[in-house]
Amino acid sequence: MEDINKLREEFVRECKGISSLKQLNDLRIKYLGKKGLLTQRLKALSALPPAERPAAGKEINILKRYVEAEIKRLEGDLSTLESRKKVATGFIDITIPGKYIPAGSRHPINRVLDEIVDIFLFMGFTVEEGPEVEMDYYNFEALNIPRDHPARDMQDTFYVETDGERQSSSPVDKEGAESDVVLRTHTSPVQIRVMEKQKPPLRFIAPGKVYRCDSDVSHTPMFHQVEGLMVGEDITFANVKSVLKLFVQSLFSVDTPVRFRPSYFPFTEPSAEIDIGCVLCSGAGCRVCKGTGWIEVLGAGMVHPKVFEGVGYDTEKYTGFAFGMGVERLTMLKYGIDDIRLFYENDLRFLRQF
Ligand code: PHE
Repeated sequence: MEDINKLREEFVRECKGISSLKQLNDLRIKYLGKKGLLTQRLKALSALPPAERPAAGKEINILKRYVEAEIKRLEGDLSTLESRKKVATGFIDITIPGKYIPAGSRHPINRVLDEIVDIFLFMGFTVEEGPEVEMDYYNFEALNIPRDHPARDMQDTFYVETDGERQSSSPVDKEGAESDVVLRTHTSPVQIRVMEKQKPPLRFIAPGKVYRCDSDVSHTPMFHQVEGLMVGEDITFANVKSVLKLFVQSLFSVDTPVRFRPSYFPFTEPSAEIDIGCVLCSGAGCRVCKGTGWIEVLGAGMVHPKVFEGVGYDTEKYTGFAFGMGVERLTMLKYGIDDIRLFYENDLRFLRQF
């Protein structure tokens, strides 16, 4: 016991003098090496009378574990200290290249969507959302799209199968194939949902996914639209023109030619389509603009009184305008992309360019 206590005191004293990893290693060998002080004592156990062996062995092992732990602790302290010294003396090679961390990039659709949202936020619009799985009522009925309207054709609309009862008002064709739940074919139903909850004046856009049963170089079954609605007491067609012209010229460039062409939508009257001078041929006529020099980018118009009546707005007091645009199409024009399917093929060679 006395011997072991002395050894412990000696070790503690020696530890205080250690100031390098080299010295520490020498200390380790001195105590724990093959012929080390502790190793010797463990070997010597067999020379003791059998009755004393367990107690002596226990003491030696306790000290051994202490020595091991202390050496480990000192090793940690000393290596931090030594690497700090290395940095201080300029030993570390800072020219070694760093680790390469590959970063993704934003999808072109989201980039343009964000830009569109920013432009309208700047004009004081807020952002609203609505469901992609929509009631027939909001997608068609409330928007003054009659049951025999071509937009309801099974070719364009994805109907969602519903089990259980149909509402009595649900549209059912001769085969009974239609359902009163659809994947929204445009973002216009959000107009109705917001007007049902809010009173004028209001001014918002509604970006989101829409679905149509269609697929070729310029159509995908899912694409994105941004809807817009502004309702108040003195809204006129002049507001449609100023807001949409400012929008288009902010998204493209200040000198982009813009023209309004009469058109038809069941939920607006009068209605217009807005064209911009073809960004690819600057109006000279090309494949993309089909030789006309103009490309359609927006649908718009003054909200139809029937739509206001459906949501309980006073049609004598309020007027408003609505518009809708396709984000894929705007993105294709902005970046000169000629096949819409590229957006959804996840080809990194395409995506990395943005
Ligand atoms: N919902 C129309 C479409 O998808 C676009 C539109 C929106 C037109 C609002 C006029 C007003 O084609």
